[in-house]
Amino acid sequence: MNIKIKLIFFISLITILICDAKKLDIKIILGSTRQGRTSEKLGRILKVMADKNDSITTEIIDLRDYNLPFFNDEMPPAYRETVEDPITKKWSDKINEADAFIIVSPEYNSGYSGVLKNAMDSLYKEWNNKPVAFVGYSGGESGATSAVAQLRQVAKAFQMIPVSCEINIGTSWKAFDTKGNLVKDIENDFNNMINEIVNLQLKK
Ligand SMILES: Cc1cc2nc3c(=O)[nH]c(=O)nc-3n(C[C@H](O)[C@H](O)[C@H](O)COP(=O)(O)O)c2cc1C
Repeated sequence: MNIKIKLIFFISLITILICDAKKLDIKIILGSTRQGRTSEKLGRILKVMADKNDSITTEIIDLRDYNLPFFNDEMPPAYRETVEDPITKKWSDKINEADAFIIVSPEYNSGYSGVLKNAMDSLYKEWNNKPVAFVGYSGGESGATSAVAQLRQVAKAFQMIPVSCEINIGTSWKAFDTKGNLVKDIENDFNNMINEIVNLQLKK
């Protein structure tokens, strides 16, 4: 490779790295961990849709990968200076990375899952001042409207910024076709949700 080609290659690489560094980092949190969960199927479909948007980068956050202990620290995370527990530290570092979140939540007994609440309660500052959007789904017709309403309240307590766009998918047991595609067309609503997050971050 002559020096001119090497230079072009180097400049292209730097340009790609700079452009990538500016992208908004949206974490898609799977709100359930049980075997056969819907959140994983849905989260993967959402990621494919989101990744069509060049201004953002996304990552699926699977609570199974963290295996967090039940929160019982003497010091509330809001007042904590450093995170000592290595498992919670890994969780804290990951949430710190994020600019915004999409929470993919089931409805369990008119609420959201205990595993999600525990994961949220294990941190505090890491959530602060970041936009959050909700994609709810449930066995019943509502599409987890109760669970998402509760999550909105909790998000405010964490000083997060809940966006108004919301997606609700009812009758989750028949939400996917035999090929694993989502039956309901949510792409337009989902793009609006992403745009709302991006616009909120631009105004900051
Ligand atoms: C413990 C439990 C409680 C549930 N409670 C409700 C409920 O209150 N309302 C509802 O519409 N569906 C309810 N469902 C159905 C779930 O919302 C539905 O099966 C959903 O797809 C489960 O999400 P997951 O597969 O990601 O765990 C419940 C399911 C479970 C496992």
